[in-house]
This record gives sequence, C-alpha cells and structure tokens, in this order.
Amino acid sequence: MSDMRCAPKRIIVTGGAGFIGSNFVHWVVDHQPDVHVTVLDALTYAGNRANLDGIPEDRMTFVHGDICDAALVDQLMVDADAIVHFAAESHNDNSIIDPAPFVRTNVEGTFTLLEAARKHGTRFHHISTDEVYGDLALDDPARFTEDSPYLPSSPYSSSKAASDMMVRAWHRTYGVDATISNCSNNYGPRQHIEKFIPRQITNILSGNRTKLYGDGLNVRDWIHTEDHSSAVWEILTRGRTGETYLIGADGERNNIDVLRAILEAMGKDADDFDWVRDRPGHDRRYAIDSTKLRRELGWQPKHTDFAQGLTDTIQWYTDHPEWWRDAKEAVEAKYAAQGQ
Ligand code: NAD
Ligand code: DAU
Repeated sequence: MSDMRCAPKRIIVTGGAGFIGSNFVHWVVDHQPDVHVTVLDALTYAGNRANLDGIPEDRMTFVHGDICDAALVDQLMVDADAIVHFAAESHNDNSIIDPAPFVRTNVEGTFTLLEAARKHGTRFHHISTDEVYGDLALDDPARFTEDSPYLPSSPYSSSKAASDMMVRAWHRTYGVDATISNCSNNYGPRQHIEKFIPRQITNILSGNRTKLYGDGLNVRDWIHTEDHSSAVWEILTRGRTGETYLIGADGERNNIDVLRAILEAMGKDADDFDWVRDRPGHDRRYAIDSTKLRRELGWQPKHTDFAQGLTDTIQWYTDHPEWWRDAKEAVEAKYAAQGQ
C-alpha cells in the first residue's frame, strides 16, 4: 500500500505459538506474501508449536526461546525490520494465584525487547489490552478511548500497564519507533481452554457442566481474533510513531448471554450451568471506542456476526479434540481448587 510508512520484510513475532500470536502469523503468511516471520516463543503451558502447522518453511523460522534472554533477543534483532510483541502471561485467574511469572514475562520481558529495539533501531509494535483502563459501570454509556486513565485491577492487567508505560518512555526518551494497541476480548480458534468461551465449549464436549462467575452480568467487548490481526498490521505499517490505538469491534455482551448462546448452539438447556465463586477484583465491564483506528487508518472488522463466529469456534473445538483433550483435566482441577 502506498501510504505505508513502514514496509517490513522481516518481522519477529513474540508469542507466535499462542492464541492471538499464531492467528497473527497465519494472517501475515496468508495476506503478506513478501514478509518473512521469525517466531520467538518459550512454549509455556499456553504455547503450542502445532498452532503454526501448515506454514511453509520458507515463510517462517521458529525459535524456541525466552523474551527475557537478552543475548538471544539481541541476536534475532540484528536481522529484523520490525517486532510485534504478543508474548505474555495472559490469564487473569492465573495472575491472582501467582503473579510472579506475570512480572517476569510481561514487565522484564518487554524491557529486554525494548533495549534490543533501542540498540538496533527496530520498529516496535506492542500488543496490549483494554484491561489497563480498569472497568466501567454497567449503566455508564462511556467507552474506553486512548485518553482514558490507566487503572488496572489485577496482577495481569497491572503488569500489562507497566509494559505499556515502558514502551511510551522508550519512545519518548530514546526515540524507539514504537506503537501500542489495546484490544478487547478475542475469540476464535486455538484459544487456550482456560479462557471463558473455550472452557465452556470444551466442558460441554466433555460432558461437564459449564461455569459462570459471580452474577454473570460482567460485560466483555468481543472481537474475532482475525480482526485483531488485520488491525495490528494496519498499525504496524501505517500507524503514527509514539501513538496508541484501541482495537474493538462493538461486541459488548454480558457473560450469561454469551454462555446461553453457546449452550443453545450446542443443543443444551439455557440453564445448564453452575454458578461458581466470583473472581476477586472482577472487572465489571469493558467497552472500546475504536474511532481513532477506524478514522485514521480506515480499519473495519470483517467478523461482525457474533453468532456465526461462535458457531465456527464451536466447530473448531469439536473438530480438534486432540488439540485440547490432554490439558482438560488439569485445567478443570486447577479451577475446582479455587471453587470455580
Ligand atoms: P496466550 O497465553 O494464548 O499466548 C501467550 C504466548 O506467549 C504463548 O505461546 C507462550 O508460550 C508465549 N510466552 C509466554 N511467556 C513467554 C516468554 N517469557 N518468552 C517467550 N514466549 C513466551 O496469550 P494470548 O491470549 O494469545 O495473548 C497474546 C497477547 O495479546 C498478550 O500480550 C495479551 O496481553 C494480549 N491480549 C490478549 C487478549 C485476549 O483476549 N486474549 C486481548 C487483548 C490483548
Ligand atoms: O479484555 C482483554 C482481556 O481479555 C485480555 O487482556 C486477557 O488476556 C484475556 O484473557 C481476557 O481477559 P478476561 O479476564 O476478560 O477473559 P476470561 O476469558 O478469563 O473471562 C471472560 C469473562 O468470563 C470474565 O468476566 C470472567 C468470566 N468467566 C471466565 C471463566 C474462565 C466465567 O464466568 N466463567 C469462567 O469459567
């Protein structure tokens, strides 16, 4: 595209074996034929090499390594035009049980990458979350914008907020060519079964009852992960340096409605769920105003039919039991120990 201010040919994708990272890598390989991707991923419990199956060898190099490994990161950055940084500890419930890995990967890891980008002059796009802004009341018409104050609630969201702050500081002080995107809740294929939507789908497929936290009225703003990918590419190549862009697709829904949609689509009774213990500090509502991204970069989501996206996601988990079956028992045992 002629107005691309950055036209990278070689990009590093951290966390490329995880849910959103792997969907982004597939998107780039499918849509950007001249781009080579180097995935850097530690293959934690959330990473899966098989998420990148089917990608031709000449389009991607997979490096099994840690973003906190400064020597490795430095070596990889020599060859890269840009880095898109997805790697993180990503689950709120885990961060409440043990925050330490969140500080290490999300804060120290981002610091390590920023230092290498500073040294090599690498274009840096940081993937973040709407949770850095805290939450909104159910009866508040407001939505988050790029000017909303940072008010994170959980160890996870506070570690992401800390990483955002470093990206901003490295841009201002050292001139790192950085952008940040804060996206709302993603859904789609290859999301870990600890997360809400895949947990409920795989509960039903396993003959378990589904689980709803608190009063079920908490609202999340759902976006299909493929729309997240296209937005990140627009920001990476055309976003203004130093800027933050919110990514969202006007997908506000409360948890009980989402759960009932899953139950209905899978032929279950609408009340076929257990109320379980609420998440401590549970954010009430997230909502994104993505006007800046849409006006400035012309981005639009393609997956605007949530019911269809959910049906496709249910089909994916139904068709790929080998992808999730081995992890199911341990995930549920961990939740059960928390009363969830
Ligand atoms: P995920 O947990 O599915 O994947 C994380 C990936 O990072 C895994 O492949 C894991 O192996 C890798 N990783 C973890 N620690 C690492 C380390 N120290 N070094 C190298 N690799 C490491 O996460 P996700 O849901 O795909 O989220 C990806 C990013 O998007 C995160 O930065 C998250 O904060 C952000 N985000 C997620 C959502 C969402 O709805 N899931 C929404 C907005 C933003
Ligand atoms: O908003 C973006 C964030 O979305 C990302 O930054 C996080 O990485 C991602 O995990 C997600 O965070 P949430 O905490 O919103 O997602 P989760 O899937 O854990 O939960 C979604 C909602 O569903 C939340 O209100 C809690 C509720 N829930 C969750 C589980 C696992 C349930 O009611 N029952 C459940 O079993």
